[in-house]
Amino acid sequence: MTARRPAHVLANAPFRRLWLAMSVCSLGDWLNIVALTALAGNLARPGDFRAQSLAVGGVFVAKMLPAILLGPLAGAFADRFDRRLCMVVADLSRFALVISIAAVVWLAPNDVAYRWIIAATLLVECVNLFWVPAKDATVPNLVPKERLEQANQLNLLVTYGTAPLAAALFAALSVVVDLLGGRPWLSGCLALVVNAGAFLVSAALIFTLKGIPRRNGAISTPSVVKQIVEGWRFVGGNRLVRGLVIGMLGAFAAGGAVIGVARIYVTALRGGDAAYGVMFGAVFVGMAAGMFFGLRLLRGLSRRRLFGLAITVAGLVLIAIALIHDLVFVVMLTVLLGACAGIAWIIGYTLIGLEVEDAIRGRTFAFLQSTARVVLLFVVAVANPVAALFGSHMVRAGAFSYTFDGSNLVLVIGGVLAAVVGVLGLWHMDDRKGVPLTADLLAAVRGESFTPEPPEEVPGLFIAFEGGEGSGKTTQSRMIAIWLRDQGYDVVQTREPGATKAGMRLRAILLDAAEKGLSARAEALMYAADRAEHVEKVIRPALHRGSVVVSDRYVDSSLAYQGAGRALDPEDVSKVNAWATGGLVPHLTVLIDTPPEVGLRRLGGAADRIESEPLEFHERVRKEFRALAAASPDRYLVVDGTLAQEEITRLIQDRIREILPDPVPREAEDITGTMPAIRE
Ligand code: TYD
Repeated sequence: MTARRPAHVLANAPFRRLWLAMSVCSLGDWLNIVALTALAGNLARPGDFRAQSLAVGGVFVAKMLPAILLGPLAGAFADRFDRRLCMVVADLSRFALVISIAAVVWLAPNDVAYRWIIAATLLVECVNLFWVPAKDATVPNLVPKERLEQANQLNLLVTYGTAPLAAALFAALSVVVDLLGGRPWLSGCLALVVNAGAFLVSAALIFTLKGIPRRNGAISTPSVVKQIVEGWRFVGGNRLVRGLVIGMLGAFAAGGAVIGVARIYVTALRGGDAAYGVMFGAVFVGMAAGMFFGLRLLRGLSRRRLFGLAITVAGLVLIAIALIHDLVFVVMLTVLLGACAGIAWIIGYTLIGLEVEDAIRGRTFAFLQSTARVVLLFVVAVANPVAALFGSHMVRAGAFSYTFDGSNLVLVIGGVLAAVVGVLGLWHMDDRKGVPLTADLLAAVRGESFTPEPPEEVPGLFIAFEGGEGSGKTTQSRMIAIWLRDQGYDVVQTREPGATKAGMRLRAILLDAAEKGLSARAEALMYAADRAEHVEKVIRPALHRGSVVVSDRYVDSSLAYQGAGRALDPEDVSKVNAWATGGLVPHLTVLIDTPPEVGLRRLGGAADRIESEPLEFHERVRKEFRALAAASPDRYLVVDGTLAQEEITRLIQDRIREILPDPVPREAEDITGTMPAIRE
């Protein structure tokens, strides 16, 4: 959350139009995948397990190969053309190609139709290679820099968010076709017509879009191979990041196994196109549920543990999916599988975002994306031939018979792989060694955790200011206290460390530059001791009197300086402080976020014990402050500390105004309400 708030990116009309075009295209793309894989399954000889496996696999390979082989080439090409024209022509070509597939499936014999599906898919994907970089390069032209991240989030939202929509649409189409007694391939054809229509709509939207410069600087799209080789150099150096990447790729591989064989597996379970649509949607519905609810439910659990656990469970669920031959169970388990994958993916992404230095974060993500693509292609491509090779086997034992076929085998392999990667991840990256996982998990499910509890019910208001050295928070907290007093509030302005008698003596020890050998734990305990005294003698009484307490630093300083800065276990620091403060949490924490090199330059005079720590120490502190704020956005205001002082004050005032109670009780108001309230 940042405090600089220009209009939402969707208020920007040209971007909104482009985004709409993107959404429609994504929906079309997903529909295309479901329809084509369903068609491929239908066109192969019915009952021939091998032929079906290979047919579906062929479609996936055709869909992914062009991006890997020709991606960089097309990116370079897209730079040379007028981008708007490039996108419109691409949309029209995709429209023509997709319609042609529907027509050929309708009219031609099965084998010809299948060959055209593959050829046209390759062509559609080649065309995509022009559309996507042209679109990516256009977004920064339409959107101001500070809104770019929001634009990218929206972009991501429609890229994946349209998948369950497409799956539902396809399932609905199949049901209707079924009810009307249409042939099995008819739903695929209809879906393709809708898909083609989406490209036409996109072409119209983009054609009428003003404000795309003809050419504006080059976009560089390094080759997939280069991204992977370069990325590995960064990733390989950090143990945690390495673990995360391997975990995420393992999860991706398992997901690839499901996507690859889902079509045939559903057929083997006697499900039709509608069931396939539902299963496809189930993965994404599960992912969304995992990302939003799963994380919230288990928020007390260590992220690293949750990451490993999610992947392990995903693996076990996958094995269950392979072995339980019941469509309803399989769909339910698939939702669970999606949820685990969603949790793992979002934790992986967030942890990498926090762990990797700013300068190489982009390349790390690019590496992850490219590798994920290659892994997916490889798994999907291999899954089907393996399934075909294995064929289908039936075990009989008296009246009982059980079929185990190639798609089951692939799913079991995928599941075992994910479970192994997950367990390895749990073991390697564990940050709570010695605490049994089950106890931890049970506590998390019951909501017992050391994350801050909801703010205590007190009549007053508690606002904390946090930030690194020289961030200007002391000045700002003073200004805010004056502003609040001017409005008639009773304000207690205070600070840590050193707001009490005992606190002052602790402060003398803590900040004495000569106190070199102070151990990290002693330091953390002394800050906590100062805080315990501060809360009991100053803050809590003031809050119970109904005052506004403005504190310069609070618990987050310890989490950032002692936890991240001194590399103490963050959970320990959090626990000690929760105990010291009796769980008192500010209603609002204002983080003034300033790069340490800027803040340290602002400081005058001799550096104290903490200020004289190296720059990396202060970088870690800043990162931790930002992570804390990102984890509970509704309790934080993050302000860019490099803005002008008055601007910062105004932003803070805007936010505090939202949570202020009425300053003076309106006792003087007369019963008829005609007399204005009298304020002192
Ligand atoms: P102070 O002189 O108040 O500095 P500032 O103006 O930057 O707030 O000194 C507080 C120092 O103590 C500061 O360097 C941060 C450090 N500190 C911790 O390391 N942990 C804590 O819990 C607190 C409250 C402060």
